[in-house]
Amino acid sequence: MPKYRIALMPGDGIGKDVMDAAQIVLDKIALDAGYVPADIGWEFWCKEGEPLPQRTVDILKTCDCALFAAITSKPKEEAEAELIPELQGKGLTYRSPIVRLRQMFDLYTNLRPCKAFKGNPLNYRDDVDMVVFRENTQGLYAGVEFHPLPDEVRDVLKAHNPRMGAFDGVPGEDIALSTRIFTREGCLRIVRRAFEYANLHGYPTVTVVEKPNVIRETSGLMIREARKISAEYPDIELWETNVDAMVMWMVKNPQDYGVMVSSNMFGDIISDLAAQLVGGLGFASSGNIGDDFAVFEPTHGSAPKYAGLYKANPTAMLLAVKLMLDWLGETGTAQALEQAIAGVIAEGKVRTYDLGGDNTTLEVAQAVADRL
Ligand code: NAI
Ligand code: MG
Repeated sequence: MPKYRIALMPGDGIGKDVMDAAQIVLDKIALDAGYVPADIGWEFWCKEGEPLPQRTVDILKTCDCALFAAITSKPKEEAEAELIPELQGKGLTYRSPIVRLRQMFDLYTNLRPCKAFKGNPLNYRDDVDMVVFRENTQGLYAGVEFHPLPDEVRDVLKAHNPRMGAFDGVPGEDIALSTRIFTREGCLRIVRRAFEYANLHGYPTVTVVEKPNVIRETSGLMIREARKISAEYPDIELWETNVDAMVMWMVKNPQDYGVMVSSNMFGDIISDLAAQLVGGLGFASSGNIGDDFAVFEPTHGSAPKYAGLYKANPTAMLLAVKLMLDWLGETGTAQALEQAIAGVIAEGKVRTYDLGGDNTTLEVAQAVADRL
Protein backbone atom coordinates (compact mmCIF):
# COMPACT_ATOMS: atom_id res chain seq x y z
CA MET A 1 0.00 0.00 0.00
CA PRO A 2 1.39 3.43 -0.91
CA LYS A 3 2.04 5.81 1.97
CA TYR A 4 -0.43 8.42 0.71
CA ARG A 5 -3.72 8.37 -1.13
CA ILE A 6 -4.35 11.55 -3.07
CA ALA A 7 -7.45 12.52 -5.04
CA LEU A 8 -6.99 14.40 -8.32
CA MET A 9 -9.87 16.64 -9.39
CA PRO A 10 -9.05 18.38 -12.67
CA GLY A 11 -12.50 19.94 -13.12
CA ASP A 12 -13.20 22.08 -16.18
CA GLY A 13 -11.45 24.09 -18.87
CA ILE A 14 -7.77 24.78 -18.24
CA GLY A 15 -8.19 22.84 -14.99
CA LYS A 16 -7.60 19.72 -17.10
CA ASP A 17 -4.55 21.31 -18.80
CA VAL A 18 -2.84 22.29 -15.57
CA MET A 19 -3.68 18.97 -13.92
CA ASP A 20 -1.87 17.22 -16.79
CA ALA A 21 1.07 19.49 -16.02
CA ALA A 22 0.92 18.54 -12.34
CA GLN A 23 0.96 14.90 -13.33
CA ILE A 24 4.26 15.33 -15.20
CA VAL A 25 5.84 16.71 -12.04
CA LEU A 26 4.20 14.15 -9.76
CA ASP A 27 5.55 11.36 -11.98
CA LYS A 28 9.03 12.81 -11.69
CA ILE A 29 8.83 13.25 -7.91
CA ALA A 30 7.70 9.61 -7.60
CA LEU A 31 6.07 10.19 -4.24
CA ASP A 32 4.97 7.00 -2.49
CA ALA A 33 1.37 7.77 -3.34
CA GLY A 34 -1.69 6.34 -5.04
CA TYR A 35 -3.61 8.88 -7.12
CA VAL A 36 -7.36 8.61 -7.48
CA PRO A 37 -9.16 10.64 -10.15
CA ALA A 38 -12.42 12.20 -9.00
CA ASP A 39 -15.24 13.95 -10.85
CA ILE A 40 -16.08 17.59 -10.13
CA GLY A 41 -17.40 20.54 -12.06
CA TRP A 42 -19.70 21.82 -14.74
CA GLU A 43 -19.89 18.65 -16.81
CA PHE A 44 -21.39 16.81 -13.83
CA TRP A 45 -23.80 19.63 -13.07
CA CYS A 46 -25.11 19.50 -16.65
CA LYS A 47 -25.33 15.70 -16.89
CA GLU A 48 -26.23 14.79 -13.32
CA GLY A 49 -27.46 18.00 -11.73
CA GLU A 50 -24.62 17.73 -9.21
CA PRO A 51 -21.19 19.34 -9.68
CA LEU A 52 -19.87 17.50 -6.62
CA PRO A 53 -21.17 13.94 -7.00
CA GLN A 54 -21.51 11.81 -3.86
CA ARG A 55 -19.01 9.31 -5.34
CA THR A 56 -16.40 12.10 -5.27
CA VAL A 57 -17.15 12.89 -1.62
CA ASP A 58 -16.82 9.16 -0.88
CA ILE A 59 -13.42 9.06 -2.61
CA LEU A 60 -12.24 12.14 -0.72
CA LYS A 61 -13.15 10.51 2.58
CA THR A 62 -10.68 7.72 1.82
CA CYS A 63 -7.84 10.10 0.84
CA ASP A 64 -5.19 12.01 2.80
CA CYS A 65 -5.71 15.11 0.70
CA ALA A 66 -6.70 16.27 -2.76
CA LEU A 67 -5.41 18.33 -5.64
CA PHE A 68 -8.08 20.37 -7.35
CA ALA A 69 -7.52 22.44 -10.49
CA ALA A 70 -10.45 24.65 -11.54
CA ILE A 71 -14.13 24.59 -12.32
CA THR A 72 -16.59 26.62 -14.30
CA SER A 73 -19.57 28.12 -12.57
CA LYS A 74 -22.35 30.26 -13.98
CA PRO A 75 -25.25 32.39 -12.65
CA LYS A 76 -28.51 30.73 -11.67
CA GLU A 77 -30.55 31.06 -14.89
CA GLU A 78 -27.68 30.04 -17.17
CA ALA A 79 -26.88 27.09 -14.93
CA GLU A 80 -30.46 25.81 -15.13
CA ALA A 81 -30.59 26.31 -18.90
CA GLU A 82 -27.53 24.07 -19.41
CA LEU A 83 -28.95 21.09 -17.53
CA ILE A 84 -29.87 18.16 -19.77
CA PRO A 85 -33.61 18.26 -20.61
CA GLU A 86 -34.47 15.42 -18.19
CA LEU A 87 -33.14 17.48 -15.28
CA GLN A 88 -34.75 20.79 -16.16
CA GLY A 89 -37.60 22.22 -14.11
CA LYS A 90 -36.80 19.98 -11.13
CA GLY A 91 -35.76 22.86 -8.92
CA LEU A 92 -32.08 21.88 -8.89
CA THR A 93 -29.81 24.69 -7.76
CA TYR A 94 -26.12 25.02 -8.46
CA ARG A 95 -23.87 25.54 -5.43
CA SER A 96 -20.12 26.00 -5.72
CA PRO A 97 -18.47 22.63 -5.09
CA ILE A 98 -15.29 24.18 -3.71
CA VAL A 99 -17.21 26.25 -1.16
CA ARG A 100 -19.11 23.09 -0.20
CA LEU A 101 -15.89 21.11 0.17
CA ARG A 102 -14.50 23.77 2.49
CA GLN A 103 -17.60 23.56 4.69
CA MET A 104 -18.10 19.78 4.45
CA PHE A 105 -14.52 18.97 5.50
CA ASP A 106 -14.15 21.99 7.80
CA LEU A 107 -11.16 23.26 5.81
CA TYR A 108 -10.97 26.39 7.90
CA THR A 109 -7.58 27.64 6.78
CA ASN A 110 -7.14 29.17 3.37
CA LEU A 111 -3.38 29.47 2.98
CA ARG A 112 -2.25 31.75 0.15
CA PRO A 113 1.47 32.34 -0.18
CA CYS A 114 2.45 35.13 -2.58
CA LYS A 115 6.16 35.19 -3.21
CA ALA A 116 7.90 37.10 -5.99
CA PHE A 117 10.15 34.76 -7.92
CA LYS A 118 13.33 36.30 -9.24
CA GLY A 119 13.12 37.00 -12.95
CA ASN A 120 9.32 36.99 -13.16
CA PRO A 121 8.61 39.96 -15.45
CA LEU A 122 5.12 40.27 -13.91
CA ASN A 123 6.41 41.03 -10.40
CA TYR A 124 5.25 44.34 -8.98
CA ARG A 125 8.39 44.31 -6.88
CA ASP A 126 10.96 41.56 -6.53
CA ASP A 127 11.00 41.51 -2.72
CA VAL A 128 7.38 40.62 -2.00
CA ASP A 129 6.87 37.59 0.23
CA MET A 130 3.41 37.59 1.78
CA VAL A 131 1.49 34.65 3.18
CA VAL A 132 -2.20 35.23 3.71
CA PHE A 133 -4.19 33.13 6.18
CA ARG A 134 -7.84 33.58 5.32
CA GLU A 135 -10.59 32.10 7.48
CA ASN A 136 -12.43 29.81 5.12
CA THR A 137 -15.72 28.72 6.71
CA GLN A 138 -17.36 31.62 8.56
CA GLY A 139 -17.98 35.32 8.24
CA LEU A 140 -19.80 36.86 5.32
CA TYR A 141 -19.40 33.77 3.15
CA ALA A 142 -21.10 31.38 5.55
CA GLY A 143 -24.31 31.73 3.55
CA VAL A 144 -26.62 32.94 6.36
CA GLU A 145 -28.53 35.43 4.24
CA PHE A 146 -32.11 36.67 3.85
CA HIS A 147 -34.07 38.22 1.04
CA PRO A 148 -36.81 39.14 1.56
CA LEU A 149 -36.21 39.77 5.26
CA PRO A 150 -38.76 37.71 7.22
CA ASP A 151 -40.79 39.73 9.76
CA GLU A 152 -39.77 37.39 12.60
CA VAL A 153 -36.10 38.04 11.90
CA ARG A 154 -36.69 41.78 11.75
CA ASP A 155 -38.63 41.73 15.03
CA VAL A 156 -35.92 39.82 16.85
CA LEU A 157 -33.20 42.10 15.52
CA LYS A 158 -35.18 45.15 16.56
CA ALA A 159 -35.80 43.78 20.02
CA HIS A 160 -32.06 43.30 20.53
CA ASN A 161 -30.62 46.26 18.67
CA PRO A 162 -32.31 49.65 18.44
CA ARG A 163 -30.40 50.54 15.27
CA MET A 164 -32.66 48.15 13.40
CA GLY A 165 -35.35 50.83 13.85
CA ALA A 166 -33.65 52.83 11.10
CA PHE A 167 -35.23 50.41 8.61
CA ASP A 168 -38.80 50.73 9.94
CA GLY A 169 -41.21 51.23 7.10
CA VAL A 170 -39.04 49.50 4.51
CA PRO A 171 -40.92 46.38 3.33
CA GLY A 172 -39.22 43.03 3.90
CA GLU A 173 -39.00 42.36 0.17
CA ASP A 174 -36.90 45.52 -0.16
CA ILE A 175 -34.37 44.43 2.45
CA ALA A 176 -31.51 42.01 1.88
CA LEU A 177 -29.52 40.87 4.91
CA SER A 178 -26.20 39.01 4.83
CA THR A 179 -24.80 38.07 8.21
CA ARG A 180 -21.18 38.06 9.32
CA ILE A 181 -20.88 35.38 11.96
CA PHE A 182 -17.57 34.80 13.75
CA THR A 183 -17.04 32.34 16.57
CA ARG A 184 -14.30 32.65 19.15
CA GLU A 185 -12.95 29.26 18.14
CA GLY A 186 -13.15 30.24 14.45
CA CYS A 187 -10.99 33.31 15.16
CA LEU A 188 -8.62 31.48 17.48
CA ARG A 189 -7.82 28.64 15.15
CA ILE A 190 -7.03 30.75 12.08
CA VAL A 191 -4.86 33.14 14.09
CA ARG A 192 -3.10 30.19 15.72
CA ARG A 193 -2.28 28.69 12.29
CA ALA A 194 -0.85 32.06 11.19
CA PHE A 195 1.41 32.34 14.25
CA GLU A 196 2.53 28.72 13.98
CA TYR A 197 3.49 29.36 10.36
CA ALA A 198 5.31 32.61 11.15
CA ASN A 199 7.19 30.85 13.93
CA LEU A 200 8.14 27.86 11.79
CA HIS A 201 9.27 29.92 8.83
CA GLY A 202 10.91 32.80 10.70
CA TYR A 203 8.56 35.66 9.86
CA PRO A 204 9.01 38.46 12.42
CA THR A 205 5.44 39.77 12.26
CA VAL A 206 1.84 38.65 11.92
CA THR A 207 -0.53 41.30 10.62
CA VAL A 208 -4.18 40.91 11.54
CA VAL A 209 -6.37 42.67 8.99
CA GLU A 210 -9.87 43.65 10.12
CA LYS A 211 -11.97 46.76 10.73
CA PRO A 212 -12.68 46.80 14.48
CA ASN A 213 -13.26 50.54 14.64
CA VAL A 214 -16.46 50.09 12.62
CA ILE A 215 -17.40 46.39 12.65
CA ARG A 216 -16.96 46.37 16.39
CA GLU A 217 -18.29 42.96 17.35
CA THR A 218 -16.94 40.56 14.72
CA SER A 219 -13.67 42.31 13.86
CA GLY A 220 -13.32 43.11 17.56
CA LEU A 221 -13.53 39.43 18.46
CA MET A 222 -10.88 38.57 15.88
CA ILE A 223 -8.49 41.24 17.21
CA ARG A 224 -8.97 40.22 20.84
CA GLU A 225 -8.29 36.57 20.05
CA ALA A 226 -5.25 37.57 17.98
CA ARG A 227 -3.83 39.43 20.99
CA LYS A 228 -4.28 36.34 23.15
CA ILE A 229 -2.43 34.08 20.72
CA SER A 230 0.20 36.75 20.16
CA ALA A 231 1.06 36.63 23.88
CA GLU A 232 2.21 33.02 23.36
CA TYR A 233 4.77 34.19 20.76
CA PRO A 234 6.89 36.94 22.33
CA ASP A 235 9.33 36.90 19.39
CA ILE A 236 6.67 37.65 16.80
CA GLU A 237 5.15 41.10 16.66
CA LEU A 238 1.41 41.44 16.11
CA TRP A 239 0.50 44.28 13.77
CA GLU A 240 -3.15 45.36 13.72
CA THR A 241 -4.39 47.08 10.59
CA ASN A 242 -7.72 48.14 9.13
CA VAL A 243 -8.48 46.45 5.84
CA ASP A 244 -8.94 49.68 3.89
CA ALA A 245 -5.59 51.07 4.97
CA MET A 246 -4.04 47.66 4.46
CA VAL A 247 -4.76 47.51 0.73
CA MET A 248 -3.11 50.89 0.41
CA TRP A 249 -0.02 49.73 2.32
CA MET A 250 0.13 46.55 0.30
CA VAL A 251 0.62 48.64 -2.81
CA LYS A 252 2.88 51.24 -1.18
CA ASN A 253 5.19 49.02 0.89
CA PRO A 254 4.37 45.37 0.21
CA GLN A 255 7.87 44.28 1.20
CA ASP A 256 7.14 45.24 4.83
CA TYR A 257 4.55 42.51 5.28
CA GLY A 258 4.92 38.79 5.81
CA VAL A 259 2.25 36.64 7.43
CA MET A 260 -1.21 38.18 7.34
CA VAL A 261 -4.42 36.83 8.85
CA SER A 262 -7.99 37.83 8.19
CA SER A 263 -11.59 36.73 8.04
CA ASN A 264 -13.24 35.18 5.00
CA MET A 265 -14.13 38.16 2.82
CA PHE A 266 -11.29 40.50 3.78
CA GLY A 267 -8.88 37.60 3.37
CA ASP A 268 -10.31 36.89 -0.07
CA ILE A 269 -9.75 40.49 -1.11
CA ILE A 270 -6.24 40.96 0.25
CA SER A 271 -5.08 37.61 -1.10
CA ASP A 272 -6.13 38.52 -4.65
CA LEU A 273 -4.24 41.78 -4.31
CA ALA A 274 -1.20 39.98 -2.91
CA ALA A 275 -1.35 37.51 -5.81
CA GLN A 276 -1.33 40.30 -8.36
CA LEU A 277 1.82 41.76 -6.77
CA VAL A 278 3.69 38.57 -7.69
CA GLY A 279 2.40 37.94 -11.20
CA GLY A 280 -1.30 37.25 -10.86
CA LEU A 281 -3.42 34.22 -11.50
CA GLY A 282 -0.73 32.11 -13.15
CA PHE A 283 1.30 32.23 -9.92
CA ALA A 284 -1.29 32.12 -7.14
CA SER A 285 -1.75 28.84 -5.32
CA SER A 286 -3.70 28.03 -2.21
CA GLY A 287 -4.36 25.36 0.35
CA ASN A 288 -7.74 24.72 1.97
CA ILE A 289 -6.62 23.07 5.16
CA GLY A 290 -8.49 21.46 8.04
CA ASP A 291 -7.20 19.43 10.95
CA ASP A 292 -6.93 16.17 9.05
CA PHE A 293 -7.79 16.84 5.40
CA ALA A 294 -6.78 19.42 2.84
CA VAL A 295 -7.48 20.45 -0.75
CA PHE A 296 -4.77 22.26 -2.70
CA GLU A 297 -5.54 24.36 -5.77
CA PRO A 298 -4.39 27.16 -8.02
CA THR A 299 -6.67 30.12 -7.36
CA HIS A 300 -7.50 30.78 -11.01
CA GLY A 301 -10.67 29.55 -12.67
CA SER A 302 -11.27 27.45 -15.76
CA ALA A 303 -10.43 30.24 -18.29
CA PRO A 304 -12.79 28.74 -20.90
CA LYS A 305 -11.23 30.58 -23.83
CA TYR A 306 -7.95 28.68 -23.30
CA ALA A 307 -9.52 25.32 -22.44
CA GLY A 308 -7.65 22.41 -23.96
CA LEU A 309 -5.18 24.68 -25.77
CA TYR A 310 -2.38 24.02 -23.25
CA LYS A 311 -1.57 27.72 -23.14
CA ALA A 312 -2.23 28.30 -19.43
CA ASN A 313 0.65 28.87 -17.05
CA PRO A 314 0.91 25.78 -14.82
CA THR A 315 3.02 27.53 -12.16
CA ALA A 316 0.09 28.15 -9.80
CA MET A 317 -0.89 24.47 -10.05
CA LEU A 318 2.71 23.33 -9.48
CA LEU A 319 2.99 25.63 -6.47
CA ALA A 320 -0.20 24.00 -5.17
CA VAL A 321 1.59 20.65 -5.45
CA LYS A 322 4.43 22.21 -3.44
CA LEU A 323 1.98 23.28 -0.71
CA MET A 324 0.59 19.77 -0.66
CA LEU A 325 4.05 18.27 -0.22
CA ASP A 326 4.73 20.64 2.68
CA TRP A 327 1.46 19.69 4.33
CA LEU A 328 2.20 15.99 3.93
CA GLY A 329 5.53 16.58 5.67
CA GLU A 330 7.57 15.95 2.50
CA THR A 331 9.41 19.21 3.08
CA GLY A 332 12.61 18.26 1.26
CA THR A 333 10.70 17.41 -1.90
CA ALA A 334 8.57 20.53 -1.49
CA GLN A 335 11.68 22.68 -1.33
CA ALA A 336 13.23 20.97 -4.32
CA LEU A 337 10.05 21.56 -6.31
CA GLU A 338 9.97 25.24 -5.39
CA GLN A 339 13.61 25.58 -6.40
CA ALA A 340 12.92 23.90 -9.73
CA ILE A 341 9.98 26.23 -10.38
CA ALA A 342 12.11 29.24 -9.36
CA GLY A 343 14.91 28.01 -11.64
CA VAL A 344 12.66 27.81 -14.68
CA ILE A 345 11.26 31.29 -14.00
CA ALA A 346 14.71 32.80 -13.42
CA GLU A 347 16.16 31.22 -16.55
CA GLY A 348 13.25 32.65 -18.55
CA LYS A 349 13.63 30.30 -21.51
CA VAL A 350 10.46 28.28 -21.15
CA ARG A 351 7.49 30.59 -20.73
CA THR A 352 3.76 30.56 -21.33
CA TYR A 353 1.96 33.39 -23.10
CA ASP A 354 1.26 35.43 -19.95
CA LEU A 355 5.03 35.87 -19.56
CA GLY A 356 5.47 36.77 -23.20
CA GLY A 357 6.52 33.26 -24.25
CA ASP A 358 4.97 30.70 -26.55
CA ASN A 359 5.67 27.49 -24.69
CA THR A 360 2.86 25.16 -23.73
CA THR A 361 1.59 24.29 -20.27
CA LEU A 362 3.21 20.88 -20.56
CA GLU A 363 6.56 22.23 -21.75
CA VAL A 364 6.79 24.40 -18.66
CA ALA A 365 5.93 21.43 -16.45
CA GLN A 366 8.54 19.33 -18.27
CA ALA A 367 11.17 22.04 -17.74
CA VAL A 368 10.38 21.99 -14.02
CA ALA A 369 10.49 18.18 -13.94
CA ASP A 370 13.85 18.20 -15.75
CA ARG A 371 15.33 20.25 -12.91
CA LEU A 372 14.14 17.85 -10.24
P1 NAI B 1 -10.22 32.74 -14.71
O1 NAI B 1 -9.29 32.68 -13.57
O2 NAI B 1 -10.69 31.45 -15.24
O3 NAI B 1 -9.52 33.49 -15.91
C1 NAI B 1 -9.42 34.89 -16.08
C2 NAI B 1 -8.30 35.18 -17.06
O4 NAI B 1 -7.05 35.07 -16.37
C3 NAI B 1 -8.20 34.19 -18.20
O5 NAI B 1 -9.01 34.53 -19.27
C4 NAI B 1 -6.74 34.27 -18.54
O6 NAI B 1 -6.50 35.39 -19.33
C5 NAI B 1 -6.10 34.48 -17.19
N1 NAI B 1 -5.63 33.23 -16.55
C6 NAI B 1 -6.25 32.48 -15.62
N2 NAI B 1 -5.51 31.43 -15.27
C7 NAI B 1 -4.39 31.51 -15.98
C8 NAI B 1 -3.22 30.72 -16.08
N3 NAI B 1 -3.04 29.61 -15.33
N4 NAI B 1 -2.26 31.08 -16.94
C9 NAI B 1 -2.39 32.18 -17.69
N5 NAI B 1 -3.46 32.97 -17.65
C10 NAI B 1 -4.46 32.65 -16.81
O7 NAI B 1 -11.46 33.66 -14.26
P2 NAI B 1 -12.82 33.98 -15.00
O8 NAI B 1 -12.62 34.18 -16.46
O9 NAI B 1 -13.43 35.05 -14.21
O10 NAI B 1 -13.74 32.70 -14.79
C11 NAI B 1 -13.83 31.61 -15.71
C12 NAI B 1 -14.60 30.50 -15.03
O11 NAI B 1 -13.87 30.01 -13.91
C13 NAI B 1 -15.94 30.96 -14.48
O12 NAI B 1 -16.90 29.96 -14.74
C14 NAI B 1 -15.69 31.11 -13.00
O13 NAI B 1 -16.85 30.92 -12.25
C15 NAI B 1 -14.68 30.03 -12.76
N6 NAI B 1 -13.80 30.23 -11.59
C16 NAI B 1 -13.45 29.12 -10.87
C17 NAI B 1 -12.57 29.22 -9.83
C18 NAI B 1 -12.16 27.96 -9.15
O14 NAI B 1 -12.25 26.90 -9.74
N7 NAI B 1 -11.65 28.02 -7.94
C19 NAI B 1 -11.99 30.49 -9.40
C20 NAI B 1 -12.36 31.60 -10.26
C21 NAI B 1 -13.26 31.45 -11.30
MG1 MG C 1 -11.15 34.97 -4.71
